[in-house]
Amino acid sequence: MFLGLDLGTSGLKAVLVDEGQAVVSSATAPLTVSRPHPGWSEQDPAQWWSALEQVLDVLKARHPAELAAVRGIGLSGQQHGAVLLDADDRVLRPCILWNDTRASAECAALEAAWPDLRRVAGNIAMPGFTAPKLLWLRAHEPEIFSRTARVLLPKAWLRLALTGEAVEEMSDASGTLWLDVAARAWSVEALAATGLPLTAMPRLVEGSGPAGSLRPDLAQAWGMTTPPLFAGGAGDNAAGAVGLGAIRPGDAFVSLGTSGVLFATTDGAQPYPEGTVHAFCHALPGLWHQMGVTLSAAASLAWWAGIAGTDEASLVAEIGRVERPSAALFLPYLAGERTPHNDGAVRGAFAGLSAGTDRPALTQAVMEGVAFSLRDCLDAVRASGTRVEAADVIGGGSRSRAWIRILASVLDIPLSPLAEGEHGGAFGAARLARLAVTGEAPETICTPPERGATVLPDRSLAEAYAERLSRYRGLYPALRALAG
Ligand code: XUL
Repeated sequence: MFLGLDLGTSGLKAVLVDEGQAVVSSATAPLTVSRPHPGWSEQDPAQWWSALEQVLDVLKARHPAELAAVRGIGLSGQQHGAVLLDADDRVLRPCILWNDTRASAECAALEAAWPDLRRVAGNIAMPGFTAPKLLWLRAHEPEIFSRTARVLLPKAWLRLALTGEAVEEMSDASGTLWLDVAARAWSVEALAATGLPLTAMPRLVEGSGPAGSLRPDLAQAWGMTTPPLFAGGAGDNAAGAVGLGAIRPGDAFVSLGTSGVLFATTDGAQPYPEGTVHAFCHALPGLWHQMGVTLSAAASLAWWAGIAGTDEASLVAEIGRVERPSAALFLPYLAGERTPHNDGAVRGAFAGLSAGTDRPALTQAVMEGVAFSLRDCLDAVRASGTRVEAADVIGGGSRSRAWIRILASVLDIPLSPLAEGEHGGAFGAARLARLAVTGEAPETICTPPERGATVLPDRSLAEAYAERLSRYRGLYPALRALAG
């Protein structure tokens, strides 16, 4: 039995996976984001710990024998967040999350201070990444910066609490800007450019490599006779890739989660920073991946549902079968945007409204706007030379057939929604735990789950969307000017 834990932004999920790779049980506890100032996004790690206790309590109550039989634990996590610890590993302030945009000015400062950054880190400095957050802290919270002995990504903090060891793996480490992504090692120069010593970093392992074992007191509390081994695990996107078997160069998928991701597996580090493409290590040795990331995907629909005073499923049910684009346009820059703009300050918009615009038209516009932003991601990844001709779809948003139909026509590629897509990162993390424990070959374990019927682009819709896309793109300069 293997346990996968996915520390997401809106919830912490645990899945118990048996030796035949069937999901025996899953449990989720919600998490909330605090936004104390415009553009800020924070979470207190104490909230993650209580969510973890909740999901383990549920699994123990439902499946005590299966939980007792867990041999390995894998972690998947929201990427980029900065957890700051003092010399006694005490949390110094709330974690600054991946969708926090306060460190925009620090990105330019970092690239100016260390011109080699793009070459070594393989990525452009973006405010969501970890290194610029530390420069912001040094300028705005110097007392906390001076007491910072260690910086951990969210799931590494959870692992420290669970095992007592500070360990990180390559895929998540890639999102800090402190990793030499081609060499798969911390870069002392990159750390120095943010005023940090190498000792502030956790030990590095591969995602499928061993990474400590569960504290004996916790193993006992959860009824486990032998403390399970931990795997390195993965950032949530690479963990999702492992879960759906996207481990061969050329494999691609779209994740319609809180953020939206166009992910492509590559056999080498393939930086394309000028296109704001993320070039990261994969969770398996000798493998890398690229991503285009839009910051507010399912988050946009959740925001709109909050305004409309209902839930996402009810809103989507109102639009029926999509035969033509909405007359309205939506730009999903609620938290700024990464690919292709790298713009933390830009904000979203509805456009093209008339007296006849109704709620379904706005809902459809929101779904289309997210699809256009993913098309920007696809075009950026393609511009780097990577071929993407079809993709799987995972994430909460993939439950909506209407959204997948829109997306297939906007991206103009066949899309396959995955039956297991909702287990995403947690399932991939459980697979990495298995690889760490058994040493099996990744190709035998990381196979694709069952695919639903492939959704092909609708020809007339795809043509209509191509025209809408150019209008969508034409609005960005106006929003940029508005952001000042
Ligand atoms: C990826 C990113 C997001 C988070 C979401 O670069 O920032 O996809 O990982 O949890």
